[in-house]
Amino acid sequence: MTTLIYLAALAYFHLPVSQAYQGSNTSILCSADNRQIVDNTTDYWPYQLYKSTNATPPYMGITTSGEPLAEGVIFLGQNYRPGTHAIKQQGAMIMTDTSDLVWSGPSSSDVTVSDFKQMTLNGEQVILYWSSVGDQPTEGIGYGQVHILDSTYREIYTICPDLGLTLLPGASSPCSADLHEHYITESNTLLVTAFNLTQADLTSIGGTTDEWVLDALAAEVDLETGAILFTWSALEHVAVNNTQQSMPSSGTSQSVPLDLYHMNSIQSYGEYYLINCRHTFSTYMVDRAGEIMWSLQGQTGGDFGSLPTNGTFSWQHHTRMINESSTTALYSCFDNGNSNPSKNVTSYGVSLRLTLPPNPSNPPELVTSLWDVNEQVYSWAEGSLSQLDNGNYFMGYGIRPIMKEYGPNPTVEGNVRWTAQFADLNSGHSYRAFKTNWHATPYTQPTLIVSQSAVPDSLSNCTGSSSSSFLIGYVSWNGATDVTSYVVYGGASEANLEEIGTFPKQGFETVFAIPSNVKAVQIGAIENNGTSVVQRSAVVTI
Ligand SMILES: *[C@@H]1O[C@H](CO)[C@@H](O)[C@H](O)[C@H]1NC(C)=O
Ligand SMILES: *[C@@H]1O[C@H](CO)[C@@H](O)[C@H](O)[C@H]1NC(C)=O
Ligand SMILES: *[C@@H]1O[C@H](CO)[C@@H](O)[C@H](O)[C@H]1NC(C)=O
Ligand SMILES: *[C@@H]1O[C@H](CO)[C@@H](O)[C@H](O)[C@H]1NC(C)=O
Ligand SMILES: *[C@@H]1O[C@H](CO)[C@@H](O)[C@H](O)[C@H]1NC(C)=O
Ligand SMILES: *[C@@H]1O[C@H](CO)[C@@H](O)[C@H](O)[C@H]1NC(C)=O
Ligand SMILES: *[C@@H]1O[C@H](CO)[C@@H](O)[C@H](O)[C@H]1NC(C)=O
Ligand SMILES: *[C@@H]1O[C@H](CO)[C@@H](O)[C@H](O)[C@H]1NC(C)=O
Ligand SMILES: *[C@@H]1O[C@H](CO)[C@@H](O)[C@H](O)[C@H]1NC(C)=O
Repeated sequence: MTTLIYLAALAYFHLPVSQAYQGSNTSILCSADNRQIVDNTTDYWPYQLYKSTNATPPYMGITTSGEPLAEGVIFLGQNYRPGTHAIKQQGAMIMTDTSDLVWSGPSSSDVTVSDFKQMTLNGEQVILYWSSVGDQPTEGIGYGQVHILDSTYREIYTICPDLGLTLLPGASSPCSADLHEHYITESNTLLVTAFNLTQADLTSIGGTTDEWVLDALAAEVDLETGAILFTWSALEHVAVNNTQQSMPSSGTSQSVPLDLYHMNSIQSYGEYYLINCRHTFSTYMVDRAGEIMWSLQGQTGGDFGSLPTNGTFSWQHHTRMINESSTTALYSCFDNGNSNPSKNVTSYGVSLRLTLPPNPSNPPELVTSLWDVNEQVYSWAEGSLSQLDNGNYFMGYGIRPIMKEYGPNPTVEGNVRWTAQFADLNSGHSYRAFKTNWHATPYTQPTLIVSQSAVPDSLSNCTGSSSSSFLIGYVSWNGATDVTSYVVYGGASEANLEEIGTFPKQGFETVFAIPSNVKAVQIGAIENNGTSVVQRSAVVTI
């Protein structure tokens, strides 16, 4: 196999001076995007390499229609699955819709992450994700903790709730939060899902009076004290014969319990909880006393009456409800339509307008049935659907490492504007995927590397023939979203630094050239074409 690493040759040859920092005596330095793409292995999907960090984000395969996309950056919680062209780096990651890295979160091959997204806490934008803690059970449920970070990437809460669960055999963890849902409510509490191993009477579905089952729990946690404010057990409130799972012919056991409900999303809705159980094809509105106020069943409509053509769903994920008026709400879900990896069933982004309270004579109306006629994706687990600020829709295909942004016209045919793939179909996944308008200024310093190596090809057109008289710098600032340029300070020593020039930020890592007569270098970051340096790197001495 041929070695194929190449520089993304995105050098500016005629640097736009108007874009640059207007310092008192500023010259524009040669700079270029330094992303390198490694696509010479069958083990890994093409990934990106840098000099200033060991992050290895995927180089996503992207197609676009050219129509407008929503503003925002993409949140992925990537996990490895064995296969060819697998994801290289497991963990939470923020990327642009042109496959540029924005933030590489903590990464370990022993820890899985899930449900990485942006939410609001105490009126401030925060990001959160789940990570596994301890020995995990089989794929599909988890025991772990929730990390909440502010817009400087400081971890302000780490929540490891103890609900008193019976864990699956072989698993061990002090933390009860399952991987599926982590939702900050309007009252600044956290909703999480959890799975409890217990026994139940399954005679109504052909079992015995004491079969092993997984109960699904919703819990509300106080962020300050860790106190459990509310728990809701599906087994206590939903008759077991609502499950779409069948009794295994070999019976149940502690190691192979029947996953009756498989709760995978919860949100607060006013003072209520919207709780989705994938294995009953149903979403429940639950009051604070735990009573089910109504249910929406994906095939029968439940309390709502018959569902519209193309508005049915099954094995669904990421159910959300947006209040529209005192009598209507927009309901949405990622409709897997399938839980069997060997079957090809197209996944849809379904949204319905519900009339409340439910009344079968006024049944739900179809709002979207999103799918790509040119590339049907068969997702048998995970997935998400959200509407974006400009009216577009963003779908993460879960167990399939594919994301699509659809236009605002909710035609049955789709209207796909953007598709990205970040691994072979079986070799990586992100439980959910989101696109949001995240703005962050990290508390950490930008990372600067300075080397005496030869001028790279990407800069040679700019530096000209006297390339031996340059030092080459590499700068990145993990997580920064608003940097537009960097100022360079240089001097004979750390004590004698003065501004020697500026250059536009170009990609996650910018490579730049400076005159080689300096012995100490530092850079400062400028945000939003402003005039003040918001953070400096450490000083590098040569
Ligand atoms: C891919 O390229 C890199 C960088 O040149 C090299 O170190 C590596 O050995 C190559 N891998 C294969 C499988 O060819
Ligand atoms: C840049 O300007 C400052 C004062 O504004 C001055 O002290 C410094 O010597 C100048 N540096 C260069 C390289 O001209
Ligand atoms: C979990 O199930 C066990 C029985 O296996 C039961 O004793 C315990 O109360 C349950 N925990 C919760 C939080 O429901
Ligand atoms: C479940 O069983 C009850 C009787 O215990 C019955 O009334 C109900 O119709 C059954 N529901 C389903 C979905 O089969
Ligand atoms: C429902 O969706 C199918 C494709 O899955 C499409 O062929 C059909 O036209 C749609 N029906 C309606 C009534 O829109
Ligand atoms: C939904 O919005 C209406 C006003 O449009 C309000 O009266 C109602 O309380 C809201 N419902 C919830 C659950 O927030
Ligand atoms: C399912 O689709 C994949 C491509 O996505 C294809 O390789 C496979 O043969 C299909 N399987 C069936 C049973 O149609
Ligand atoms: C440098 O410029 C030449 C001629 O304009 C061009 O052919 C070459 O591709 C450029 N090199 C790089 C690395 O962009
Ligand atoms: C910075 O200025 C450039 C050039 O005028 C413009 O394209 C870009 O949108 C500006 N960026 C911000 C964040 O204001």
